[in-house]
Amino acid sequence: MKKKLKELEEKIKEAHLGGGEKRIESQHKKGKLTARERIHFLLDEGSFEEIGMFVTHRSVEFGLEKEKYLGDGVVTGYGTVHGRLVYVFAQDFTVFGGSLSEVHAEKICRVMDLAMNNGAPIIGLNDSGGARIQEGVVSLGGYADIFYRNTRASGVIPQISAVMGPCAGGAVYSPAITDFILMVENTSYMFVTGPNVVKTVTHEEVTSEELGGASTHSTKSGVTHFSCANEIECINYIKKLLSYIPQNCEDEVPAIPYAPRAGDEVRLELNSIIPENPNQPYDMRDVINGTVDASSFFEVHKNFAENIVVGFARLAEKSIGIVANQPAFLAGVLDIHSSQKAARFVRFCDSFNIPLLVFEDVPGFLPGTDQEWNAIISNGAKLLYAFCEATVPRVTVITRKAYGGAYDVMNSKHIGADMNYAWPSAEIAVMGAKGAVEIIFKGEKDLKKKEEEYIEHFANPYRAAERGYVDEVIQPSDTRAKLISAFKMLENKVDKLPKKKHGNIPL
Ligand code: HXC
Repeated sequence: MKKKLKELEEKIKEAHLGGGEKRIESQHKKGKLTARERIHFLLDEGSFEEIGMFVTHRSVEFGLEKEKYLGDGVVTGYGTVHGRLVYVFAQDFTVFGGSLSEVHAEKICRVMDLAMNNGAPIIGLNDSGGARIQEGVVSLGGYADIFYRNTRASGVIPQISAVMGPCAGGAVYSPAITDFILMVENTSYMFVTGPNVVKTVTHEEVTSEELGGASTHSTKSGVTHFSCANEIECINYIKKLLSYIPQNCEDEVPAIPYAPRAGDEVRLELNSIIPENPNQPYDMRDVINGTVDASSFFEVHKNFAENIVVGFARLAEKSIGIVANQPAFLAGVLDIHSSQKAARFVRFCDSFNIPLLVFEDVPGFLPGTDQEWNAIISNGAKLLYAFCEATVPRVTVITRKAYGGAYDVMNSKHIGADMNYAWPSAEIAVMGAKGAVEIIFKGEKDLKKKEEEYIEHFANPYRAAERGYVDEVIQPSDTRAKLISAFKMLENKVDKLPKKKHGNIPL
């Protein structure tokens, strides 16, 4: 028995070394952690249970039968984050560059199936040279098996992908289907075709970082939700993200104890946030932070489509999702990217029972050929559709402008919001006063007086309140208290969509 115990110990040691000391050193030299180190930092101390440590590939081509590594380039298993169960897979770049073989894919599929059957999040730590070239089509099949599971799991369990190294070719589509992508600056990249192919086809000279690095995907394409300075920050973001989201679509939203200071319910600073001049910007994040539990706002997609702000926060301890126009960027206008960003966030929250809070200050949709030709119609419709479809508790606070179609889209009562509040500074109208009088009184002189009349009549929240489109006009300083009360009142909301296979969101 002693010999057998020793044999087991040695095998475990071998598996822990992955592709060997030299390759581990090379990984560290690139500023990257190994798969096991990443898991160590992610999970609660001592909670990791590994599955499939001794799995090896079955390949016999290109001399591969002589080169086998225990685990075959991916570490899989389960553990806890802040005491809550999660499943995890971490690709090990030290073994065949983390490339995906048949058994590597099988190991990932196994933890995905366990995550689905047991209703807990799946976290993928990606660091891979793509398909195991020596295995050919078997590897492509393995990818497809993963994509299929990603799609089946969508909306059932949260799926989080961290990209911590290469992720190229078709391999990008697994993270792309998951709910959140995090990337590490300077050491990770994602692209469908790399710089060499780009040069051949389009004659563009571009580096990997420019083409598909964290900064590109967090600002230009919006593919990644978080751009992290280093791997530890990336892992900490995953943990933080998990703290706001339920384990699965039938679970309740998590709550984190919050001890308010005396007088915490009244936030007087909000009374002076809106500038006298309606065209002057202010930072909507100040409104958000002035409303939610102190330090609880966690912004998602921070550097992409900055004219809309989305993120998680806690209100009286419970998680909520926030969607807010940002007057400090492009006047908070809705455009293609901001509509896409907000729509995806709304759908995530609705999938996982996270109530939605909307702060509205929107002058309308962005005009121009660029927007029209790139389908602002279909893209704006995504956000409209996402709100219309959401059955979670939904509350809107109109802080200033709610103009035109954007008024309808931004979680108006007409499309199913449960409670709508307006600050006295709200202007709920078809358009701004200047534009309106120029149309109504075309060709007439002295439009200044007419503009004043229009402002008097329409640039306020009371016309909408008369109709019940706004439930209450409130002091900004009371916003927190009103929202806590509204979400408590809506806690047991039951709303069901008509029986259907699934809707047809304008993709
Ligand atoms: C097998 C691979 C591999 C792969 C890397 N390796 N990629 N082995 N299949 N796809 C091995 C290398 O042989 C090397 O082995 C080790 O991993 C580290 O690779 P290096 O090249 O030394 O590392 P680095 O310089 O950091 O470059 C990393 C890389 C490069 C940029 C990822 O390795 C690379 O370009 N790999 C090929 C990428 C690729 O074309 N993949 C297929 C894409 S198509 P040793 O023994 O020296 O340590 C695809 C389709 C998916 O993925 C479709 C899904 C639908």
